Order: sequence, then structure tokens, then C-alpha cells
Amino acid sequence: MLIGRLNHVAIVVPDLAAAASTYARTLGAKVSEPVDLPLHGVTTVFVELPNTKIELLYPLGEDSPIAPFLEKNPSGGMHHVCYEVDDIYAARDQLQAEGARVLGDGEPRPGAHDKPVLFLHPKDFCGTLVELEQV
Ligand code: CO
Repeated sequence: MLIGRLNHVAIVVPDLAAAASTYARTLGAKVSEPVDLPLHGVTTVFVELPNTKIELLYPLGEDSPIAPFLEKNPSGGMHHVCYEVDDIYAARDQLQAEGARVLGDGEPRPGAHDKPVLFLHPKDFCGTLVELEQV
């Protein structure tokens, strides 16, 4: 099996404080303070659930990669799912051999948890942007 646990679901939101409050107060979840990730052009609030995490994403800076998503989805929406893999290079090579497209230059980069991540083309995965994270 190539993929393991669901590491997180990422949701782009138009108002990070309001979204954090929705998860903390309305849904009763444990949420972090906002964390700026300049390398990824996002500010994130992490929501801890018993079996996975939710990452609330808000654009950071002029060239945020999620700014166009928020323009198309002004009330926010699900952005990607992240699956865990044991070996990100082996996973990438196997997926590319199957014809799947890896975004960018195909080299893993440190993700939100400082572990190597890759993104896979949504058109190859049921219309969903997929992040792989080596754990
Ligand atoms: Co992610």
C-alpha cells in the first residue's frame, strides 16, 4: 500500500479568526494560534482532532498560491487532503511510473510540519489536490 493515514485536510478560509472560532467554540476542537509559513505563502491554524488534523489556511503575502482559490471560492472551501507515506521518493517514482503528475519540479519540500511533502495533480486524483507527507 502506498498511502497510509490521513494526516490532515486543508480548508482555505476568508477570515482566519472567524474560522478558528468556529472550530474552537462551535465545534469544541483544540485549535492553535495562527502560524505564518512564508515559504508556503499561508497563515495556518491547526485544528487537532482525535484521528487527524484540519488545517485552516489563509493567504500570506502578495503571491500566495491560495489567493486564486479564495477568489474563486469567496466563502472558502476544501483545498487538499494529505496522506502519509513512508518514503516520499519511492512514492513519487511509483506514482510517476503510473502516469500521475507531480506538481512543481517534483522535488519534495519541507511542509507545514517540516517534513518533506509533494503535491499531486487534482486531475489525476478524482478532482482533489493531494499532498503526500513523509512521516
Ligand atoms: Co497540507
